[in-house]
Amino acid sequence: MTEDDPADGWFPESVAARYDAPGGANDPAVVTPAVDLLEDLADGPVLEFAVGTGRIAVPLAARGVPVSGIELSRAMAARLTGKPGGDAVDVTIGDMTTARVPGQFSLVYLVYNTISNVTTQDGQVDVFRNAAAHLRPGGLFLVEVGLPDLRRLPPGQDTVPFAVAPGSDGGGYVGFDQYDVVTQQFTSNHVTVAADGTGRFRRIPFRYAWPAELDLMARIAGMRLKHRWADWDRSDLTAASTRHVSVWEKALR
Ligand SMILES: C[S@@+](CC[C@H](N)C(=O)[O-])C[C@H]1O[C@@H](n2cnc3c(N)ncnc32)[C@H](O)[C@@H]1O
Repeated sequence: MTEDDPADGWFPESVAARYDAPGGANDPAVVTPAVDLLEDLADGPVLEFAVGTGRIAVPLAARGVPVSGIELSRAMAARLTGKPGGDAVDVTIGDMTTARVPGQFSLVYLVYNTISNVTTQDGQVDVFRNAAAHLRPGGLFLVEVGLPDLRRLPPGQDTVPFAVAPGSDGGGYVGFDQYDVVTQQFTSNHVTVAADGTGRFRRIPFRYAWPAELDLMARIAGMRLKHRWADWDRSDLTAASTRHVSVWEKALR
C-alpha cells in the first residue's frame, strides 16, 4: 500500500482508500438531497471547497452543472479523478483559505463539517473571503456544518460520545468529541480495536463556531445571510437541530 504523505493532512492515502466505502455519508439517501439543493441553487458554474473524493461534486456534475473543486489532499483528489464521471470535475490542489481557481462562480459550497477543519478564527475568515473572491455579485456561499454539541456537556465534563459500536468478532469502535469551551477547539477521537486486540487511536483537531460567528465572518467578506436551514430538505432550524445548512449572498456591488 502507498505510504501516507504528511502534505495530505488528515486525509492521506490510508483514509482516502476507505472514504468511498458504501453506506454512511455515501448512501444515496444522504447524497441525493444535498445534490438536489445544490443543483437548485446553482445558476452557472459552481466551486466546491475541500471537494475530497467527489462524493457530492461527481453526482452534481452528472446533472450537467459545471463543477470545479479545491482540495488539499492529493490522495483524496486522486480518488475523484479516478472514478467514473470524475473527469467532469476540474480539481485544483491547494488550501481553500488561499488557493484561487480561474473564473467567477454562481455558488461556492463547503460541506460535511469541513469549515471546522480550519482550526483558527483567522483561517475561517480567510475561507469566507476566498469564497467571496470566487463569487460573482449576487453569488451564494453554502456551508453545511454541525452545531456545537455543548448542550450535552454537564459542568465539569468535556467529552461527548457519538458512537459505541461493538463488532461481532470481539473488536469494535468508540468515538467521542472532546471540547475546550475557552478556545473553541475540539477534537474528534476515534478508537478502533481489531478482533485480536490491536487498536488504533486517531485524534483530529477542529474549531467550532456558532452560526452567529459565521454570519460575522460572512459580513467581513461582503456577504449577508440569505437562508439558514436545519438540513438539506430546507427544514426549519430549531433548538433541537444538530447541524445547519447556511447560505450567504455576496453583495451586488
Ligand atoms: C470530510 S472530507 C469532505 C470531502 C467532501 N467535501 C465530501 O463531502 O465528501 C474533508 C476534506 O477536506 C479537505 N480539506 C481539509 N482542510 C482543507 C483545506 N484547508 N483546503 C482544502 N481542502 C481541505 C480534506 O483533505 C478532505 O478531503
